[in-house]
Amino acid sequence: MEIKVELTKNPKAKPQDESKLGFGQIFTDHMFLMNYDEGQGWHDARIVPYGPIELEPSAMCLHYGQEVFEGLKAYRTDTGKIQLFRPDENFKRLNLSNERLCIPKVDEEFLTEALKKLILVEQDWVPHSKDTSLYIRPFIIATDAHLGVHPAHHYLLMIILSPVGPYYPEGLDPVKIYVETKYVRAVKGGTGMAKTAGNYSASLLSQEEAAEQDYTQVLWLDGVERKYIEEVGAMNIFFVIDGVAVTPMLQGSILSGITRKSCIEIMQSWGMKVEERRISIDEVVDAYHSGKLDEVFGTGTAAVISPVGHLRYGDMVMTINDNKIGKISQRLYDELTGIQWGKIEDKFGWIVPVTE
Ligand code: PLP
Ligand code: COI
Repeated sequence: MEIKVELTKNPKAKPQDESKLGFGQIFTDHMFLMNYDEGQGWHDARIVPYGPIELEPSAMCLHYGQEVFEGLKAYRTDTGKIQLFRPDENFKRLNLSNERLCIPKVDEEFLTEALKKLILVEQDWVPHSKDTSLYIRPFIIATDAHLGVHPAHHYLLMIILSPVGPYYPEGLDPVKIYVETKYVRAVKGGTGMAKTAGNYSASLLSQEEAAEQDYTQVLWLDGVERKYIEEVGAMNIFFVIDGVAVTPMLQGSILSGITRKSCIEIMQSWGMKVEERRISIDEVVDAYHSGKLDEVFGTGTAAVISPVGHLRYGDMVMTINDNKIGKISQRLYDELTGIQWGKIEDKFGWIVPVTE
């Protein structure tokens, strides 16, 4: 499919001070759009100036949340090249989310090419400073003007871009997390494994209550027994217990994180033992009391590697590794970001160059 390009006549000024980018606050000059109409498939791929879109107030996405999204990044290397990290995995996951939300599948290879083309148009927007990148947000919404509850017949796929710094203001400093015992995020058979808006809106109240108590995020437990660990709001979670990295297995209620998958592969390449299995909060507490809980860290595209310094469960606050980043977290951060920013060799074949 051909991609039409319409360039803006009013380019915006690029951010001067990249230390103040924050996360997801600034958007670039252009966006990618593509429509789906039943009978016609995906069509009209185009890159156009970034700006408001028209939607009927009755558009189905606004009422029943038929929406899916992705999050990935483009990185600028020291020599000025621009590269993507495992975009194929993101588009594969987009299609898994599509399947769960009854949204028509997209051509993953075509989307990768479309994304490269968009980034080429916006290449000056990829920031240069350490720990900055261009966050990429592909998403699909149901656009039918109809109030019946059924899968839509018309969709809009968009990709927008945002130059970003760290997701958490803490950066690589340990974050404070509490174990959520009042609310649940997802259950097996629900939509937890899909990247869809409803999962996030359902988590807001819990996040607000955590923030009121000065906690950065919450750690979700399983929705049935409220016993087994699931994930954090925007990241997967790992526990290093007696030298072994343990992370909840994928059972349908948590997101299959690409950073999670990459970290597992990196740790295994070091010869470290990694276990994907059910892990209860009681096991974590026991490991803490017996001095075997070496490290806890979250993984995500936005959050990268985020060490957990304080983990609260009920009245108990566990201080992990003296509230300092642990050896494994630091080594993982160095290797993962080293590959992403092109500072070390990509022996896994994860990097997709955008510019030569
Ligand atoms: N879990 C949730 C709920 C997320 O939103 C994210 C971020 O996308 C992750 C985990 C981490 O996934 P990834 O490493 O693919 O960014
Ligand atoms: C990510 O892309 O890493 C996310 O977690 C999305 C998030 C900012 C909601």
